[in-house]
Amino acid sequence: MKLIPANFLAGSLRLPGDKSISHRAALIAALADGRSKLSNFSSAADCASTLSCLRELGISIEREDDKVVFAGSQRLVAPHRSLDCGNSGTTLRLLAGVLAGSSFTAELIGDASLSSRPMRRIIEPLELMGAKIEATDGKAPLKVRGSNELKPITYKLPVASAQVKSAILFAGLNAAGRTTVIETSPSRDHTERLFNGFGVPVIKNEDLSVTLDGPARFDGGSITIPGDVSSAAYFVAAAMLLPGSKLTIEGVGLNPTRAAFLSVLSSWGADISTTGIQTERNEPYGTINVRGGLSGTLTASDRMLSESMIPSLIDELPLLAVVGSQIDGGILIRDAAELRLKESDRLATTAANLCAMGANVEEFDDGLRVYGPTKLRGALIDSHGDHRIAMAFSVAALLAEGETEIAGAECVAISFPEFFTLLESLAKR
Ligand code: S3P
Repeated sequence: MKLIPANFLAGSLRLPGDKSISHRAALIAALADGRSKLSNFSSAADCASTLSCLRELGISIEREDDKVVFAGSQRLVAPHRSLDCGNSGTTLRLLAGVLAGSSFTAELIGDASLSSRPMRRIIEPLELMGAKIEATDGKAPLKVRGSNELKPITYKLPVASAQVKSAILFAGLNAAGRTTVIETSPSRDHTERLFNGFGVPVIKNEDLSVTLDGPARFDGGSITIPGDVSSAAYFVAAAMLLPGSKLTIEGVGLNPTRAAFLSVLSSWGADISTTGIQTERNEPYGTINVRGGLSGTLTASDRMLSESMIPSLIDELPLLAVVGSQIDGGILIRDAAELRLKESDRLATTAANLCAMGANVEEFDDGLRVYGPTKLRGALIDSHGDHRIAMAFSVAALLAEGETEIAGAECVAISFPEFFTLLESLAKR
């Protein structure tokens, strides 16, 4: 994909449904007693992986464009082949939690990137609950032997991960008694909100723990999935950095455990507002309005992202590093070693690509310092097959001098197949 600079962004749009909510809604609908209809379901390849794994497990699913219908009262059955999770960590980890309470054995596989990501983080708690999981060096393929006598546990997460928390909560549905997950930093809470929204109470306690009493079953129901705020982030950042931009994105998810990107940019002087906030099955959504340009000057220490802020910004950090290269004082990111364990080593791939565009970057074990402002120059960007790297550097391309080529740009389909078409329709030259 070749991209040239833009003067500003202008337009109004709606986005496909949130990827994290779509995965969870599909799993809930597959396990629910009643019929479910999911509207504005994500167009991401990752969410299609979740649906295809559920079909392999005997769940019949009707899909027409963004509408996905589950008949309800279905039963998971032993699959005839391995369950292919593709590139999707959320599919693999959450499904492992579902399978932990099954009466059969199933194998979860993924692509080269997913097969290199750490799985001990789910193996340990799910084995404590009574499942048996075979892995190679703590990585996929994972052979999950379910148990219909799962034990509830109280488990303190060693890493702030919504995927691990959610795997335990899905397993907790099949354990007799109280399952408690204790977090050190709050991670995205879609599982908790949707469990409550579909009839399974999950209590959030003040000490950052959540509890669920099992066994429990979901009611079916309808949901219109809010637009994906992580997809919106690319357009918001580009609009903010290009003076003269005016952008409106309607129906976007504004869950506070996901929308920190917006509040961080606002605190740095961006002209961003959210309006018309409503909720759908406990998930807040509304309109994001952005006008280009930054006001005010902050010092570099004000632009440090660290500690408990990291989980709610985790997928936006490569993009924030690009933003940092454009603003006075740059940006400092710490406590983000988890980024090395994503679809690519995102600290390394972000640093290398920013350097290729002429930015001045220091890489730490757990973060990055990006100096700014720098006039970026067009370059050949290696996405490393990582959708978030391809999209973050497409935003950089709009701000750079000359042409940028993104190698492996088709990986955007993992989360946002419409990305380049929408970006081109908004970019004014
Ligand atoms: C996700 C959680 C995050 C995030 C991923 C989606 C989820 O991963 O990076 O893109 O849907 O639960 P971790 O929970 O492993 O941090």
